[in-house]
Amino acid sequence: MVPQWLIEKKRDGGVLSAAEIEEFIRLYADGTIPDYQMSAMAMAIFFRGMDEAETAALTDAMMRSGALLDWDDCPMPTADKHSTGGIGDKISLMLAPLVATQGVAVPMISGRGLGITGGTLDKLDSIPGYNSRLEIPDFKRIVSEVGCSIIGQTANLAPADGKLYALRDVTGTVPSIPLITASIMSKKLAEGAASLVFDVKFGRAAFMRDRANAEKLAASLVATGLRMGRRCDAILTPMDDPHGRTAGNALEVAEAVETLKGEGPADTRALTLDLAVRMVALAKGADGEDAKKSIRDALVKALDNGAALEKFAAMVEAQGGDRRFIDNPMLLPQAGATLDIKAPAAGTVAGVDAEKIGRVVLELGGGRRAAADTIDPAAGVSNLVQRGETLSKGDRLMTLHAATPALAESLAEEARMAVIM
Ligand code: URA
Repeated sequence: MVPQWLIEKKRDGGVLSAAEIEEFIRLYADGTIPDYQMSAMAMAIFFRGMDEAETAALTDAMMRSGALLDWDDCPMPTADKHSTGGIGDKISLMLAPLVATQGVAVPMISGRGLGITGGTLDKLDSIPGYNSRLEIPDFKRIVSEVGCSIIGQTANLAPADGKLYALRDVTGTVPSIPLITASIMSKKLAEGAASLVFDVKFGRAAFMRDRANAEKLAASLVATGLRMGRRCDAILTPMDDPHGRTAGNALEVAEAVETLKGEGPADTRALTLDLAVRMVALAKGADGEDAKKSIRDALVKALDNGAALEKFAAMVEAQGGDRRFIDNPMLLPQAGATLDIKAPAAGTVAGVDAEKIGRVVLELGGGRRAAADTIDPAAGVSNLVQRGETLSKGDRLMTLHAATPALAESLAEEARMAVIM
């Protein structure tokens, strides 16, 4: 195979065969094809796109660049969720144990946060003792015994994606639907869950700003998953405002626990339930409104009677964490300083700018600018007001959590500006 011939074919609008794509990716993954040729190919794909069969072939080739997990020994059907990421998106923390209460196993492999979007793994890492770096045999054992486990990306899961993503990041080729699809799906398919639900965000703090592009991405993810023999479903979620009332790692864990206690913000609970119904319905092959209604009723019960909370506690314990924080949130990392931000005037909250809140959390130390940065697990925002609430002058808009009073003070104005009144 002559790499430049395939690059030229895609550059000129041709359709690559599955065999051509497979060979190109295999030779890129083993270092035979250099970065400059892969960059050219990525740019050709960026401009010319890929049809459904090409996207599936690219996904398949990237998936096969590393280990493939299988769940044949797991006594339950398996399901997972992928979110394209947002501010305050702590849904996985509640979703995995909630779904597991219904006899559906959730093997979840999550990423760390980068930029303004937090990662599920950073949230879990704020739990004292929690080990998110399990070896695959331990991961599989906990999924089978407890029903859910959440761990970090392992180096041998779709390694071609790790290599290609780093290249796309520096060559202006990230926002391409086939490349995003193959990137997300290669990892999710390698993880092996039989059913997959996608939560594709759109809005000012989302990867996809507008709904039309989010719809295209959702359709592409589902089509690729179906082609590869998985059951798939997708929802689109607005990401203009943060989810819930917290953003920041340990603060989000505390809010997840509240939600698992049947409390917590209504939006967080509603989104968790919506995704959980879809995951359980897909995994059990339940069709029709009546079946979905009884799944929803069972899930609501599991949230309200403590069954989901108990599953979460069992997962934390199985992964070495100290479950006592569930009754005593003060055992989670605590910030050195807190600062209440007050409403400068009376009014109704027209929205909370999730992008601005994400930036404030990053500046407070709760996020990473570069992959190697360390984060402050206690940093972030809590007590956040929500759209539609009516406030008097001087009412609290949010509480900032920072390492020092000076750091909190330096972000007070930016935080205040995030609340649109
Ligand atoms: N998330 C991924 O894993 N890959 C992309 O290309 C974009 C978002």
